[in-house]
Amino acid sequence: MFHGELLDLMCAANSIVALSGAGVSAESGIPTFRDAMTGLWARFNPEELATPQAFAKDPQLVSRWYDQRRCDVLKCKPNAGHIALARLEETCRQKGRPFTLITQNVDRLHRAAGLQNVVELHGNLFTWRCIDCGGEADESGPAFDDHPPRCECGGLRRPGVVWFGEALPREALLKAQRASGKCALFMSLGTSSVVYPAAALVDLALQYGANVLEINPEQTPLSRRAHWSLRGKCGEILPDLIPRAGS
Ligand code: OAD
Repeated sequence: MFHGELLDLMCAANSIVALSGAGVSAESGIPTFRDAMTGLWARFNPEELATPQAFAKDPQLVSRWYDQRRCDVLKCKPNAGHIALARLEETCRQKGRPFTLITQNVDRLHRAAGLQNVVELHGNLFTWRCIDCGGEADESGPAFDDHPPRCECGGLRRPGVVWFGEALPREALLKAQRASGKCALFMSLGTSSVVYPAAALVDLALQYGANVLEINPEQTPLSRRAHWSLRGKCGEILPDLIPRAGS
């Protein structure tokens, strides 16, 4: 059961921001970032592969890893949590209330669930960008033949995700900060809340006076600052909570 005050607040909130992390996609079968790397990648950790230096040193290895993740994600489907968030977005649209879904995830499952207004803070696995001409191509086909894939200009193409040490896409970050700084409700969903600048968005919401709801099976550094911190899985809580809050 949910606290009546939370349901009333969600129902009345005139603007909502949801920040999603890897935990939202866990129930779609996508390992969270801090889960141990599995299979042939077990001997690496993400920090070793998700950097510009790693790509410069061994572009083939990094390309193979990202292409493997891209192909794995292509087999995954949005879960009940993604679908509930799409329903919440639709209800907010009908009520003329802003709803912004900001994601740290690179799997595009929010879009696959039908969400229209998704801010991808860390890019995605499907847009690959030429390191020479900057040309981008969307790759939703089978595994690449060449690693890394080549651009028409002959340059190497890299995955369009944010690597450690790289700046976040400027437009996406500004949009996320603007929305977080004027929302009535900030929902932190399935994120460890330890990676910045994404983890600082909630501070903008709190400074504005927003209410904060966190959903995570585990405690995070945000838990004690949130007005509500629900222990559980997004794929279980969101489909129950969102309809009860009027969506
Ligand atoms: P993490 O792997 O750091 O954290 C996943 C969170 O999801 C943890 O707090 C889990 O407890 C929680 N979790 C697991 N299963 C869940 C479920 N079914 N429902 C709800 N929560 C669940 O992933 P992120 O917080 O997304 O950045 O990591 C943020 C960023 O760290 C990633 O985007 C990546 C990494 O550096 C870049 O690659 C730039």
